[in-house]
Amino acid sequence: MADTRKIYVLNGPNLNMLGTREPEIYGYDTLDDIAERMEDVAGRAHVEIVFRQSNHEGYLVDWLQEAHAEGAHAVIINPGAYTHTSIALHDAIKGITVPVIEIHLSNPHKREPFRHKSYVGMAAKGTIAGFGPMSYMLALEAALEL
Ligand code: DQA
Repeated sequence: MADTRKIYVLNGPNLNMLGTREPEIYGYDTLDDIAERMEDVAGRAHVEIVFRQSNHEGYLVDWLQEAHAEGAHAVIINPGAYTHTSIALHDAIKGITVPVIEIHLSNPHKREPFRHKSYVGMAAKGTIAGFGPMSYMLALEAALEL
């Protein structure tokens, strides 16, 4: 029997606070709500979702490498503020062959200038931003089609 395809969904700092964190920007859904919806859709496509969150940059690097070692089908990553600072995440994405989709709930380009630069986006296959929790679902749709 063929192995089940795995899609890693990685979430960076402060995303564990979704639901109560600046809801006027990020909405009221929690990360668990989003994980549940993704698992539902992926399950119907017989795809396994590996859903993780960390406030620590190194864990995100480890999980990108793990996704590669596991032969994951794709990675969807919302790197939070590390988007705008992390050369380590940039290098980690460049160093693996798994396609990586960068996502954001908000549209960083409509926000403060320090959010306009994305080290992750410079290495990712593509970016989806500005659709709230739907950014995750759109990325899943794209990942399933890859
Ligand atoms: C974010 C956008 C980032 O600029 C911010 O630091 C976040 C969330 C988003 O999903 O809109 O933590 O990645």
